[in-house]
Amino acid sequence: MIGNRGADGCNVVTIKEIAEMQALADEWLRGGSRIGCVPTMGALHEGHVSLVHRARELSERVVVSIFVNPIQFGPQEDYKSYPRPFERDLSLCEENGADAVFIPAPEEMYAVDFQTHVAVEELTTVLCGATRPGHFQGVTTVVAKLFNIMKPNVAVFGAKDYQQAVVIKRMVRDLNFDINIVVAPTVREPSGLAVSSRNNYLSEQEKVEAATLYQALCLGESMIQKGERTAEKIKKAMHHLFDAVPSSRIDYIEIVDADTLQPMETIHKAVLLALAVFIGPARLIDNKVVEI
Ligand code: PAJ
Repeated sequence: MIGNRGADGCNVVTIKEIAEMQALADEWLRGGSRIGCVPTMGALHEGHVSLVHRARELSERVVVSIFVNPIQFGPQEDYKSYPRPFERDLSLCEENGADAVFIPAPEEMYAVDFQTHVAVEELTTVLCGATRPGHFQGVTTVVAKLFNIMKPNVAVFGAKDYQQAVVIKRMVRDLNFDINIVVAPTVREPSGLAVSSRNNYLSEQEKVEAATLYQALCLGESMIQKGERTAEKIKKAMHHLFDAVPSSRIDYIEIVDADTLQPMETIHKAVLLALAVFIGPARLIDNKVVEI
């Protein structure tokens, strides 16, 4: 335990070691508390904070994990440069009512002879899974580990990473984790831009341009609401919006079944509009579920 930062009346506990986190969770559970957990990679923002508040509503004890998980980053991705403002993160956890923050060291999470992974199959072959091979296996493996360490009754994830939430729900169902997975809505800037740690990589101009992701989702939604059912036409119109954004490079724009994440050509039930677009140096993702 790094310390009970309780001198000023706040009392978030910072824990680095796995055994210590497990012991604290056991103590809480023995005392009859429900544990809510919020797994994060840090660089906390309003989106993360909203998850902490949701966990607080659902459980007597809240633990936030902060771990930049090396095995979910591709070799060309930003693992090394991912922001790590730990002191600020701890203050945010404290101010927003977390009881503990779990910040493990990569060496303890992954021993040199680590060789066990958790993989969800079909759901991870589409959308971000198609362009980030190995990413979701890294996510499910670390989340399974975090569940065994923090022993939560409920875990809160953001709808911003919709596919991630669907994949984790499937892992929990398939492997019988006794944990309730709650998905909280995406927190956005006034421009509609989804709040994200990676927005820090954007210039002011790029931030303005990045709002096009949300505009594209709204355009798709309004076309469906007006009766358009041909996915190809909607995707084309969404693509078109980025023609006016020179800093953009589209990774994907997809319309998929909101439950199975499989592509849907003619819209006949609730769909997920999902896109991943590079704006300057940052790969941004966003999505919207549209019911019909
Ligand atoms: P990270 O990107 O830090 O996100 C942590 C959680 O915050 C995720 O559940 C994500 O969906 C949620 N989140 C991010 N931006 C949000 C926003 N604008 N509104 C609401 N929720 C938002 O996702 C990860 O970390 C990692 O993959 C992790 C699950 C921790 C495994 O390493």
